[in-house]
Amino acid sequence: MDSSLIRNFCIIAHIDHGKSTLADRFLELTETVAKREMKEQVLDQMDIERERGITIKLTPVLMKWQNYYLNLIDTPGHVDFNYEVSRSLACVEGAILLVDATQGIQAQTLANLHLAQNAGLVIIPVINKIDLPNAQIEQTAEEIANLLNINKSTIHQISAKTGTGVKELLNSIIKLVPPPKSINNQFAALIFDSHYDEWRGVVASVRIMSGSIKAGDKYWLTGSKITGEVLEVGIYNPKSQSVKELTSGQIGYLVTGVKKIELVRVGDTVAKEQGQRVLAGYQEPKPMVFAGFYPAGRGESKNLRDSLTKLKLNDASLIFEPENSQALGFGFRVGFLGLLHLEITKERLKREFAIQPVITSPSVAYQIELNDNQRITVKGAAELPPEYKIKKIYEPYVIMEIICPQIYLGNVMTLVQEYRGVWQNTNYLSAGVNKKSDRAILKYYAPLSTLLLDFYDQLKSVSQGYASLNYEFLEYRPCCIKKLDILIADEIVESLATLVYEDEAYFRARAIVTKLKEIIPRQMFEVKIQASLGGKIIAAERLSAMRKDVLKRASSGGDVTRKIKLLQKQKRGKKRMREQGHVTIPQEAYLSLLTKQIKTE
Ligand code: GTP
Repeated sequence: MDSSLIRNFCIIAHIDHGKSTLADRFLELTETVAKREMKEQVLDQMDIERERGITIKLTPVLMKWQNYYLNLIDTPGHVDFNYEVSRSLACVEGAILLVDATQGIQAQTLANLHLAQNAGLVIIPVINKIDLPNAQIEQTAEEIANLLNINKSTIHQISAKTGTGVKELLNSIIKLVPPPKSINNQFAALIFDSHYDEWRGVVASVRIMSGSIKAGDKYWLTGSKITGEVLEVGIYNPKSQSVKELTSGQIGYLVTGVKKIELVRVGDTVAKEQGQRVLAGYQEPKPMVFAGFYPAGRGESKNLRDSLTKLKLNDASLIFEPENSQALGFGFRVGFLGLLHLEITKERLKREFAIQPVITSPSVAYQIELNDNQRITVKGAAELPPEYKIKKIYEPYVIMEIICPQIYLGNVMTLVQEYRGVWQNTNYLSAGVNKKSDRAILKYYAPLSTLLLDFYDQLKSVSQGYASLNYEFLEYRPCCIKKLDILIADEIVESLATLVYEDEAYFRARAIVTKLKEIIPRQMFEVKIQASLGGKIIAAERLSAMRKDVLKRASSGGDVTRKIKLLQKQKRGKKRMREQGHVTIPQEAYLSLLTKQIKTE
């Protein structure tokens, strides 16, 4: 194919700013999909995506417009999938920066814009949803012009819904996005997505950077270091369509025949010979958030394992290992890229496998430096080694960027501080028209663990829904984390142990023992509920015994010595029960402590 006729581009935007709707209009105008086949948001293929209106998986598509071949890659807008966004940006020469006219620039618009600028892409700014009565076109244009240092008149104004301005945008793509360049003739392709096909193994979506490839050619994956033979090559039209050959500049797919999806990973380079250059720094997906998944009913353990194994076939970043909990039985500790990834996995288990596991509250992965200088990763309280073996504990930190209107600035800053955020700087998105309508961009460093609490909800609430947030991993930093043990009737209950910040330990301990007192049913004897930090009890409650009126039987006779005898017997009995006593904690009690509502946005 003549690469001077190819234009590769993507759309970057904040969630719900209209990417998928715009992609639909492109498909319609270019007649890639016949009008009668057009369902809303064709590129969002998964059911969940369609229902929740979020893009999870990238779906590339080839369209023809005025003799040009336009390859569009639809990118996920959410932070959890930042790495995928950056890989798809490496496959294109241009990016449409799509901004909702009713919302203006949001945190993810900025984050994705930075990625696109770093990748050296041509940026085509577009204001969407101009058909809405509350569209603030002038103000949004002003913000974009200031941000990109361009003239307002060069910004496209469209309605992805009605189609206004979309044709002109397609023309601009041809004019402004440069055709792909090839460095030499040696074959190299970048993998930006992959999925599992039951019959043919892993199918990799690729951008051919140089050279060409066809069915029957031998290939070499530089990251995974495996060889194989290409079974088929093709393009996305938008359905897969096999072609004879893929050449430099094209976007398409390779059927690899590989049976394990984790061997064909996003970011890897496909070459023809061993030892060939690698296109970009390949990054392993790094799970940052962990949660226990336990079968909800008896005998569901195998079902859960099978379903997770099947899910992993189409999601290389999902990792899991068996875990055993005293309270919840045999389950799995599952690792995710972030909270949305967790939420999606939960949904997919429910829809695709009809499984609704019990999910424990998510926690982050800590790195522990031991006294013998070994470094280990700890994904939950149960894995923490005894204190005397630990030299230092490190926790993941993120860079947070929050955009919010000036009037909420004070509220937002107080909130982030409460959540241990460390302020870095404040900038402004200038609307030019009126200084008061400027919006602030706040930058903070903060522990990832705080985002797992109810930070999103709080941020939305203190800003009346106007603040938006984006974060990315910064580094591991030293922290003061301790294991908080819970004792019930003097016995440590391993499943209730949690990792807490030392300076919050008292507060957390009190909250937990109080809650336990409410949910554990009273026993025949008094039960001590205690929280212990490093062997020292820091909070305690007593659950009083159920009283049985032993005097009832003796009530008719007035013999005092008999009454005293009965009471003493009861006392002795209770003491014995307390000494031998085992408190069975009902599963609901565990559940209300170990699990909580997971919120992502
Ligand atoms: P993610 O996939 O979650 O990142 O969202 P998205 O950017 O793909 O947004 P999507 O296309 O799903 O649009 C979000 C909502 O905005 C949908 O309800 C669309 O119908 C609506 N929408 C998109 N473009 C327009 C527009 O130009 N005008 C109006 N009125 N609504 C629009």
